[in-house]
Amino acid sequence: MSHSGDQNRGSFSSKFGVIAAAAGSAVGLGNIWKFPYITGEFGGGAFLFVYLGFIIAIGLPIMISELMIGRRGRQNAFGSFKVLAPNSKWRVTGLFGVVAAYLILSFYGVVAGWSLHYAVEALVGNLSDRTPQEFEVLFTSFIEKPVLPVLWQLLFMVITSVIVLLGVQKGIEKYSKILMPVLVIILVVLVVRSITLPGAGKGLEFLFKPDFSKFNMEGVLSALGHAFFSLSLGMGTLITYGSYINKKNNLGKTALQVTLADTIIALLAAMAIMPAVFAFDIAPGSGPGLVFMTLPNVFQQMPGGQFFSILFFVLLSVAALTSSISILEVIVAFFVEEFKLNRKVATLLAGITTAIVGVFCSLSMGILNFPAFIGKNLFDTLDFLASNVFLPLGGLLIALFVGWYYGKKKTLQELTSEGKYKVKFINSLMWSLKYIAPLAIFVVLIYGILENLETYLKVEILPW
Ligand code: PFF
Repeated sequence: MSHSGDQNRGSFSSKFGVIAAAAGSAVGLGNIWKFPYITGEFGGGAFLFVYLGFIIAIGLPIMISELMIGRRGRQNAFGSFKVLAPNSKWRVTGLFGVVAAYLILSFYGVVAGWSLHYAVEALVGNLSDRTPQEFEVLFTSFIEKPVLPVLWQLLFMVITSVIVLLGVQKGIEKYSKILMPVLVIILVVLVVRSITLPGAGKGLEFLFKPDFSKFNMEGVLSALGHAFFSLSLGMGTLITYGSYINKKNNLGKTALQVTLADTIIALLAAMAIMPAVFAFDIAPGSGPGLVFMTLPNVFQQMPGGQFFSILFFVLLSVAALTSSISILEVIVAFFVEEFKLNRKVATLLAGITTAIVGVFCSLSMGILNFPAFIGKNLFDTLDFLASNVFLPLGGLLIALFVGWYYGKKKTLQELTSEGKYKVKFINSLMWSLKYIAPLAIFVVLIYGILENLETYLKVEILPW
């Protein structure tokens, strides 16, 4: 790991290293597993367009803010706020982030475990010669099992923890540079196969023709929450990564590139999955199993399908890994810098505790499948609380912090790297951080949560 002059913190060696690491964090299960299935649940096109609106108007400005806070504060999420706003309450934002990291990593490891299992299933030839119904049964009977998915989840958590133990640079840079482009290529191949299936047209229509009549505030909240989840925002991941970035980096450009990469990959995944969903008569609202139930059908219809399916699930697991290490890093950096824990101890502590909660998450798909919170099982509860409550709240605080407290002058100074780069977007950025993002997040959060409660309690709370 190289050291960047004044402080004793690691820094990314190359420009590409920064982008690779931040994109490695952003691109993950959120893009390929979660985005297609929630788009299916919330009616397709309408959800997609609202999501894209949130990415541009709120996601990008907050990504720039997080990288900026981290590079200026040179600390973990909690500590950076202490440096930039001494003796104030802003540090609570960082604390929220650590809680969100815990919630996310617990269920994230479960899904990553499914992906590892599917890679092996593909390898041994278990994903061929089956009907769409058989693929559905294969998936549900697997995730309901009490032992096998737990073992895969634990294996994934061990791999994540070991990589974090090796340290930021070695752990992250090496893996994502080569593999991400390969994942994109496979997705493109899948899109081509999927949209040429008979009956695929309906899927494209579902995806790109918005039908707002079926869309509600729950959907808007999920679109907002997912914009944060997908871009790794709202919990200080990119504050922590920003703290490892040196002054030579043009933060605005980096944020734009990461946002673009993340969005393109999510769109490719949705275009690979949705047409196939319709071609094979699978319900678009099938939930968390959608990708695992749909894509094996597509691979089956491709020359070299087995090879592609192995590669796909391996790369999906790697994409999950570069994200999960970034989540664990938030907790570890916090433990190390705030409690002065040894890095090894901190990693073990964070890894083991999230893995334990993860075990319960996995079991909540089968033997422990009962409502934990507003009618949702533990798995869905953690996802809901993290993505749709904690991340937007974290984002709200970050926007308010930069927009109102930290202010335009210092923000400009940091984004231009003390005058080195032109930052023409500063006024729109500040406008979004001061008004658009806080207002939109506030309204969507309140209405979305109330509507979720309405659905659960089957009562009318809102006047419309
Ligand atoms: N962005 C990751 C994904 O789309 O899979 C998940 C994630 C990573 C969320 C890091 C939040 C985070 F801080």
